[in-house]
Amino acid sequence: MAREIKTIGVLTSGGDAPGMNAAIRAVVRKGIANGVKVKGIKKGYQGLLNEEIIDLEKKDVSDTIQRGGTILGTARCSEFRTLEGQQAGAEICKKHGIDGIVVIGGDGSYKGAQALSKQGINTIGVPGTIDLDIACTEYTIGFDTAINTAMDAIDKVRDTSSSHERCSIIEVMGRDAGYIALWCGVANGAEDILIPEKYDYNEQNIINNIINNRKRGKTHHIIINAEGIGHSTSMARRIEAATGIETRATILGYMQRGGNPTCKDRFYASIMGAYAADILCEGKTNRVVGYQHGEFLDFDIDEALAMKKDISEYQYEVSRILSM
Ligand code: ADP
Ligand code: F6P
Repeated sequence: MAREIKTIGVLTSGGDAPGMNAAIRAVVRKGIANGVKVKGIKKGYQGLLNEEIIDLEKKDVSDTIQRGGTILGTARCSEFRTLEGQQAGAEICKKHGIDGIVVIGGDGSYKGAQALSKQGINTIGVPGTIDLDIACTEYTIGFDTAINTAMDAIDKVRDTSSSHERCSIIEVMGRDAGYIALWCGVANGAEDILIPEKYDYNEQNIINNIINNRKRGKTHHIIINAEGIGHSTSMARRIEAATGIETRATILGYMQRGGNPTCKDRFYASIMGAYAADILCEGKTNRVVGYQHGEFLDFDIDEALAMKKDISEYQYEVSRILSM
């Protein structure tokens, strides 16, 4: 029988993502509505090991849903990858009366949650990453804000690119995944979209594309390059040398992780956070919340981590046809 849950914790871990605050707020308010106490653990697993633990009341999450970043802070913590670190984390939870934790983060953070669950602390993961690279869910908190931020920035680079008749390589985040690049590439009408899942590292194809487009009278050439391919600056130098067309690289970087979350991120984060609080209060453990085919649902973490996710062939093909 599932043990009674009296106190739950919430932490954010890994890279921050817009909408994490909405998820924290939902965990706090739904947890309290379910009759449990809620504690916030600052700075991810590092904060857990440092015992940076605070009580959270409903009012503590007022005026946070619209804010980017995470009010709890986040961190990457190598110590938590070790068994000793995980055992210490579980002991600290017990000392503070924390029966279970909602972990808001990406795949790496889920592994930490899986480890804590093995140490007897109930855990539920909530997908918080701009990268959209978690296989068990069609949606991750932060993706929508990140692509909209990137899309706006790319539109601006395109204006100046056209004025100067330049080629622009714009590098977007995504770690090893090409979702941000694919979505922005389509939404910004890029001439080339380079994603790690599909790129053949044949720059001659890009060079031919630029030369042909220029002959057809196009004044700009936008290449969206995913971080997983990288090397945008050296790529720009090579392309300029081969085409004779001025080519500049812009790396959008951390601006993609900041800013006020979009409505979609606030909504998904709110439902996912509340769902996580509910199943944690029911005594479930080693689960992650996901969204598939219009439904919010939960999966075993071990199964979720074993799932594979790939770019849709159809979406990729369409992106290529539309860019021509
Ligand atoms: P994300 O959660 O965004 O994928 P990371 O991969 O950096 O980000 O993971 C965040 C944190 O989760 C790490 O700093 C570490 O504390 C914890 N973590 C990652 N992998 C493991 C693991 N295999 N075992 C235990 N904890 C892990
Ligand atoms: O996972 C989110 C993300 O922004 C990735 O897109 C990127 O590769 C990584 O985090 C950067 O992490 P850091 O904050 O450690 O530089």
